[in-house]
Amino acid sequence: MKKYNIAVVGASGAVGEEIFKVLEEMDFPVGNLLPLASARSAGEEIVFKNKEYTIEELTDSVFEGRNIDIAFFSAGGSVSAHYAKFAVESGALVIDNTSHFRMDPNVPLVVPEVNSEDIALWEDTGIIANPNCSTIQMVQLLKPLYDLYDGIKRVDVSTYQATSGAGKHGMEELVQQMQDFFAFKLNESEVKAFAHRIALNVIPHIDTPQPNGYTKEEMKMVNETNKIMHSDFAVSATCVRVPVLRSHSEAITVTFREGVEVNVEAVREALANFENVRVVDDLENKLYPMPMTATDTDFTYVGRIRKDIFAPNILHLWGVADQVRVGAATNAVRIAQKWIKMKEDI
Ligand SMILES: NC(=O)c1ccc[n+]([C@@H]2O[C@H](COP(=O)([O-])OP(=O)(O)OC[C@H]3O[C@@H](n4cnc5c(N)ncnc54)[C@H](OP(=O)(O)O)[C@@H]3O)[C@@H](O)[C@H]2O)c1
Repeated sequence: MKKYNIAVVGASGAVGEEIFKVLEEMDFPVGNLLPLASARSAGEEIVFKNKEYTIEELTDSVFEGRNIDIAFFSAGGSVSAHYAKFAVESGALVIDNTSHFRMDPNVPLVVPEVNSEDIALWEDTGIIANPNCSTIQMVQLLKPLYDLYDGIKRVDVSTYQATSGAGKHGMEELVQQMQDFFAFKLNESEVKAFAHRIALNVIPHIDTPQPNGYTKEEMKMVNETNKIMHSDFAVSATCVRVPVLRSHSEAITVTFREGVEVNVEAVREALANFENVRVVDDLENKLYPMPMTATDTDFTYVGRIRKDIFAPNILHLWGVADQVRVGAATNAVRIAQKWIKMKEDI
């Protein structure tokens, strides 16, 4: 079996570390491995398949002569903006986890279960973008519903996003603040990763404010959903940071066209048959997805499936997924797997 040389930019970060785990778990055919980060982490070791690798500093020339086939980028938008071109020029496919290229019309934005056919467009730029974490788990639930009822009219979503969505520092800040709480010094806690203290709080503000009153995170969900699904339905999002370490939850309301009569059993079946979706929906027995259900798994879970009390064409759902895996690392590795299959089938 052919092996592929892999670079991971952001190797010391939350997503980078998870990419190594997913590559190992999925027995990805890795040849050489090149872990990259900033000068801060260069020289540190990572372990992959029981072998140690030294993190190197990302520079303009680091890809030269390394024969990298696939470079996963997860070091922030400005890093991708500057360095992705050097990886592409060296002959690598870039799979980018940041928001930098997502809405570029020449760059495919891919959730393999939903629009894997778009991977074929990679040659235009040498880059495939990985969508926003909240968007990935939502479109995995919307796609089977879109197909079941021949379209969607509108989606309203409220997210409950974990602190690790802001990287390792976000998670550490919640832990530190809870320790400060138990030491009776919460008022002295440092507030850095989020707009306010996150311990014992929820913050309806993720990413930068936009002129229309939404945040950038909310507009990512609006714009990316329709790009991935090749659709143009209305989407409105309210994105909220909650004091959870890992896995994002979403309350999703889907409005279908006039005349549709939602059938909850048919919805359950369509969701249960969709790749990498798991239905957990038995309220009587206290069964519904929660962050602790999804953490460290590669599935998007859905429950609390119910028809609106007032309108027959409206459906309510609750979805949860591990946003570091499903929303980033696993999605990126699944794109790489499909890309390899596409190339090998030609
Ligand atoms: N966390 C999530 O749930 C999630 C989900 C989807 C997408 N993303 C996206 O993935 C990216 C990474 O997120 P994360 O959560 O992994 O962040 P993180 O835990 O803060 O890690 C950031 C990584 O980027 C590296 N880095 C920062 N500046 C660099 C530079 N100038 N040159 C080279 N490397 C640099 C860091 O290396 P050092 O150790 O050297 O600083 C570290 O490895 C972000 O764009 C984020 O939006 C994150």
